[in-house]
Amino acid sequence: MIKRYLSLLIIVLISLHLSAQEWVVPAENGARLSPFAFSDSTRKAGAELYNTNCKSCHGDPGKNNVIKLVPPPPDPASAKMQSNPDGALHFKIAEGKTPMPSFKNILSSVNIWQIISYIRSFNDKYVQKTQTKPGGSGAAGENAKIKIAWLKETHQVQTFISATKEKVIQPVAGTEVKLFVKRYFGNLPIDEARNTDAEGKALFSFPKDLPGDSAGFVQLIVKLSDEAAFGEVKADTTLAIALPTYRPPLNEKRAMWNVVQKAPIWLLLAYTFSVLAAWGFIIYVFLQIRVIYRAGIRKDQ
Ligand code: HEC
Repeated sequence: MIKRYLSLLIIVLISLHLSAQEWVVPAENGARLSPFAFSDSTRKAGAELYNTNCKSCHGDPGKNNVIKLVPPPPDPASAKMQSNPDGALHFKIAEGKTPMPSFKNILSSVNIWQIISYIRSFNDKYVQKTQTKPGGSGAAGENAKIKIAWLKETHQVQTFISATKEKVIQPVAGTEVKLFVKRYFGNLPIDEARNTDAEGKALFSFPKDLPGDSAGFVQLIVKLSDEAAFGEVKADTTLAIALPTYRPPLNEKRAMWNVVQKAPIWLLLAYTFSVLAAWGFIIYVFLQIRVIYRAGIRKDQ
């Protein structure tokens, strides 16, 4: 009995400890800023997202009608919520903390910034800070651009990322880039994610045996991972760098779906044979019934 109480006490203590824990935001996350300026349209989009994802717990901003949880979810208009820097809000919404769920797999980074722009609209004193620091991915400029080049000798794809910062086009260093090849169903990742060097460049090795179309064309897609800093940046291009692969057209061979040459021979034979076998069996049964009938007549006489 005592043991039971002891373990219960430990569980209560642990959960109290967990819920009382400070919500620590790593410094680099806390310093993050939105890649776009907050406006009426971002607030409107944010309000919709807030109402579907957050209102059930956090209530209507400014009305303090939050759900009763331990710890309580703060009202978005409250000082507790508003004292967070933008980056800290972004981090907390993305990561969550029991009982608040994590939203990083539900909302895109841009969506989270839109919600933050809505939350900030309940704070008269809020002035949005914009990114001023040059260099580094946390301080990206506007309009990130991606260039794609093919290095034939080394069989590599090179990407070059630049962004306009203070009206000057500068390379973006140290940001994560991913390369994909478009396939029928989704995108196939090529090589591992790479970080850009000081010149904003990243190199991906391209497999030598990747099938392309009949002329070897593939569609390459390059994406930046750091949506928080750049928004959704993507570039694609079509290059003849894969293995030319001949896919026979559907009407070339005898096939079930071919409208010209119809079903394959083996299928026709198998079908005919099984139909004949079934009818043969039925006829055999009738013949046997006749034999029985005849035998009956003989006995009666
Ligand atoms: C299941 C209920 C629930 C939902 C849904 C929810 N939250 Fe929370 N949220 C909480 C709770 C509880 C806390 C307090 C956590 C703590 O302090 O440990 C919290 C804390 C926060 C904080 C941190 C405030 C601070 O004290 O620094 C932010 C920001 C936040 N929520 C934003 C959101 C946003 C935005 C959404 C919707 C995308 C959302 N929450 C959805 C329950 C929820």
